[in-house]
Amino acid sequence: MLDVETIRKDFPILDTLMHGRPLVWLDSASTSQKPRQVVDRMVRFYESENSNVHRGVYELSEKATAAYEGARAACGRFIGARNARSIIFTRGTTESINLVRYTWGRANVREGDEILVTEMEHHSNLIPWQLLAQETGATLRHLPIDDEGRLRMDLLDQHMTERTKLVAVGLMSNVLGTINPVRRLADAAHAVGARILVDAAQAAPHLPFDVNELDADFLAYSSHKMCGPTGAGVLYGREDLLEAMPPFHGGGEMIREVWADRATWNEIPYKFEAGTPNVAQAVGMGAAVEYLEDVGRDDIREHEKEMVAYAIERLEAAGAVVYGPRDVEERGGVASFNLDEVHPHDMATILDQEGICIRAGHHCAQPLMRRLDVAATARASFYLYNSPQDIDALVDALAKAKGWFA
Ligand SMILES: Cc1ncc(COP(=O)(O)O)c(C=O)c1O
Repeated sequence: MLDVETIRKDFPILDTLMHGRPLVWLDSASTSQKPRQVVDRMVRFYESENSNVHRGVYELSEKATAAYEGARAACGRFIGARNARSIIFTRGTTESINLVRYTWGRANVREGDEILVTEMEHHSNLIPWQLLAQETGATLRHLPIDDEGRLRMDLLDQHMTERTKLVAVGLMSNVLGTINPVRRLADAAHAVGARILVDAAQAAPHLPFDVNELDADFLAYSSHKMCGPTGAGVLYGREDLLEAMPPFHGGGEMIREVWADRATWNEIPYKFEAGTPNVAQAVGMGAAVEYLEDVGRDDIREHEKEMVAYAIERLEAAGAVVYGPRDVEERGGVASFNLDEVHPHDMATILDQEGICIRAGHHCAQPLMRRLDVAATARASFYLYNSPQDIDALVDALAKAKGWFA
């Protein structure tokens, strides 16, 4: 089990006061807080290893390159990738998904093809496919969800056809917490010759998983949601697919040989990393991987199951409607809710006065809000540093907020 009190000491920000009250951070699904180990690693990089990577022949550049490539290896290990060549550093999940849209998508998707997404996708895993569909003449299809926020797998056959070229699905919903049956979707996609892209922005920080077990063709995740810095993320791609794909951005580093009018491309993953990368951020992301591995990813998952079960129990007892599956085996540590007629924004503003940070709004999932028939929800999300006392503080403050609006 996690020793939350000890873990909290790694996160200096958790000692700060907000409006004179101790900070209660319940917005990790938006971005997580950063442990000292990650911050210190980045400081060490800037203080003693800083140089550009893959370019210099001097020792400092070799140090920086070793740190950068070490982070790539860690990020690959984190998701079970067999080879670091499959790991492309990006700025985050959104950029990773757009990379696939611009490269694989433009090369492979044609008029009449279909792209299958789900009703619960984050805009980052929806808008790129809308844009690709618009520019190619392909059709976007949406796998519906049931009233508990689970994918309607019984309708999959109607939505997956021999015209399906790509399935783009989140492994864990940022609103409902639902953990989707990605392996089943991958098997169905592969059976019709389609590819599957997995948005693991929410899953990577919270659930141990393996890209090979998921049989993902592409998988995207972000550093900043998993204790790492902003400005870093990963696109995993199957090596044969990456080899066949055209490059994304053009510029330095992604080339092998250049003439006045043409060029040839570097090997993967460098073909997709034009320009000077976010080296310190990538190194920080590698440190975040090591931090989470040291704490224990299975223990983090177990802790979050307990947290979300307790949150659902207390929120419902306080009269809130909580969205998403009831069974914690099927959901991650996210609790989206509404409470009577109190608008989520008003709720979040009042909670802020108590030092409690939750998210309110459409959570970048407007089609899902329409499906739930709400304009917005409040969302409390949990991580390794949250304790049941944080949930008690939330529910007590909600009771106060309710009083204000009664
Ligand atoms: C499910 C999901 N996908 C994609 C993203 C986008 O991630 P980023 O903003 O790090 O690119 C998020 C961020 O909230 C998310 O929750």
